[in-house]
Amino acid sequence: MKNNQWSSRLGFVLATAGAAIGLGNLWKFPYIMGRNGGFSFLIVYLLFIVILGLPVMMLEMSLGRYSGKNPVESYKKINKKAGIVGFLGVFAAFVILSYYSVIGGWILKYLFSYVTTANAPADFAAFSASNETVLWHFLFMASAVIICLMGVKGIEKASKFMMPALFILMIIIIVRTVTLPNAVEGLKFMFLPSDNSSFTFTSISEALGQVFYSLSLCMGITITYGSYLKKDENIPKSCAQVAVMDTAIAVLAGIAIFPAVFSFGLDVEQGPGLIFGILPKIFSEIGGGFIFAIAFFILVFFAAVTSGIALLEVSVSFVTQKWKIGRKKAVLGVGLAVFLLGVPSCLATGALSGFNIAGYNFFDLMSVFTDNILLPLSGLLMCWFVGWRWEPKILANEMTLGAKKFKLAKIWIFTIKYITPVLILVVTVSGFVNIYNTVTAA
Ligand code: TRP
Repeated sequence: MKNNQWSSRLGFVLATAGAAIGLGNLWKFPYIMGRNGGFSFLIVYLLFIVILGLPVMMLEMSLGRYSGKNPVESYKKINKKAGIVGFLGVFAAFVILSYYSVIGGWILKYLFSYVTTANAPADFAAFSASNETVLWHFLFMASAVIICLMGVKGIEKASKFMMPALFILMIIIIVRTVTLPNAVEGLKFMFLPSDNSSFTFTSISEALGQVFYSLSLCMGITITYGSYLKKDENIPKSCAQVAVMDTAIAVLAGIAIFPAVFSFGLDVEQGPGLIFGILPKIFSEIGGGFIFAIAFFILVFFAAVTSGIALLEVSVSFVTQKWKIGRKKAVLGVGLAVFLLGVPSCLATGALSGFNIAGYNFFDLMSVFTDNILLPLSGLLMCWFVGWRWEPKILANEMTLGAKKFKLAKIWIFTIKYITPVLILVVTVSGFVNIYNTVTAA
């Protein structure tokens, strides 16, 4: 067996799920759902997972296995000019990791604080603006680097342990929060339609963007992990399993958080501070709360670090194949570069708060650049090259290798050619409208 291949199907599926399940599910999904009206947002999100997320994921995974190479080489195989699509993805993963790790650092700090003092840091805003965040960002990157140094097998092992653990911890927390007084209001917010004004056109494009982000699409990761996959694995089935797990964890995160938020009459539309500002208030009110807090932050850390490894692995696979350098050097080099790029993001609301471009601080700049510019761009080019300048049938055939028969091949090809690009265009345009609004307001 080749050294860089998954040793089992389970390991592969869990590692891919580990890449997908991350801060996007536990931190971002609940707060955007909170801001966009609960139930309506959930329905639209589920719809997009099926009609947009799944087809794109299948494309990337089969392309990776078809070529057996990193994203840039994979796209080059389609068309000499298409290498740029892979490059945009690798670059996006690199930049995303730089600020992802900053949030990962906050998680570590919260975990440390709960373990040592049974309490959250006193003031989230003050902590996130302090220079101390650089240390936590460093520790988070170090964790990802150490696991990545162990190679594909290390990634597989970490995921096989962390993913089930995450699930169990989540269930424990849910049992606690849904039994709080008035918890049912939170469940109603998620699962019953209500007339709400928070759900608007931007909610739709936020749902679309979240599907890409949560399934880690267009960033080379599914191509990279697919390239380590054996020919007889069933790609449509694996993708469906990953999408189901990813969506289930996002929904479970909502079930863990909203009942508690409603039970204590706190603000669901709180935004990014939801798990750092609001949750600690709740943990401090419930009996034995700090135990649940520790469980919660361990769970979020597992999710974040398995995504961090994946983000790192994208650049590592590119660098090792491109410049033929050893894995160890590549992991350490890329890890260091990402750490350095993340430092200004750590300090964005503190020491560097005076540094703003068009109303965005450095942290926001990085996330807007990747989410609103790099990703849609590489998504559109992906559909163009695969759907129009090549034969998507080749990938449909690749998918039948392990699946005996891929019944939905025709529908899949139609989706990739017509539906996906139009939906991505919607995300792109609304992203630009958002940027325009921010810039003109600055
Ligand atoms: N999907 C991850 C999450 O939900 C974040 C993410 C975005 C990611 N792009 C990625 C992870 C690429 C790994 C690789 O948190």
